[in-house]
Amino acid sequence: MSTNPIYLALDFPRLETAEAVARKVAGHIGGLKLGLEFFCAHGHHGVHEIAKIGLPIFLDLKLHDIPNTVAGAMQAIHVLEPAIVTVHAGGGRAMMEDAKAAAGEHCKVVGVTLLTSLDEGDMTATGIGGNAHDQVMRLAELAQSSGLDGIVCSGHEVAAVHSQWKDGYLVVPGLRPAGGAMGDQKRAVTPRQARDAGASVLVVGRPIARAEDPVAAARAIEATL
Ligand code: C5P
Repeated sequence: MSTNPIYLALDFPRLETAEAVARKVAGHIGGLKLGLEFFCAHGHHGVHEIAKIGLPIFLDLKLHDIPNTVAGAMQAIHVLEPAIVTVHAGGGRAMMEDAKAAAGEHCKVVGVTLLTSLDEGDMTATGIGGNAHDQVMRLAELAQSSGLDGIVCSGHEVAAVHSQWKDGYLVVPGLRPAGGAMGDQKRAVTPRQARDAGASVLVVGRPIARAEDPVAAARAIEATL
């Protein structure tokens, strides 16, 4: 395919380490994902430094607050020209509508559905009935009708979401290359499987970033796509 869908998650506490790893693999990935931890530690300065590498930036900030505050946060990060920003779909329709309205023209705003750290026990404890899959599908539908560009979902859900939201921009993390590090993980989805199921963006962190040879790891994943 013409555009590399791999976004490397730069989950490093030190800016210099993040920058060094990103520069090394830059030729084999399509973008860089910076999370809340990075943003809280390094702020706009850190994003500017990473942006110098020349790849699109995904700000995974998972914003969740009242609509006015989320819209203000979106406006405040506008100068960073992120390609992708996340908000929590659980923040509701007005929040998502206002987040999208406040985003730059070229910025994809995607909704986080259900964090994979939560199980059905956690859902019940927070007053959410039903199962996790139904909750993901419900929030995907809400994100779509609120005008977002897409959602974040697991490799197990992407096919179902893709079938009901054909042009949804679907961001899939938690991937493990076949036979690679943690490739023996039960029910792991490979980058290729996720792409074939309809993923627009493949988020890969540790399998590249923590590999002994990050360039070889990135190249190997790229070759499967
Ligand atoms: O596991 P890995 O290091 O590849 O994770 C890549 C990124 O995807 C991390 O930044 C992590 O926070 C994010 N992630 C996520 N939801 C998951 C799994 C991982 O947002 N279910």
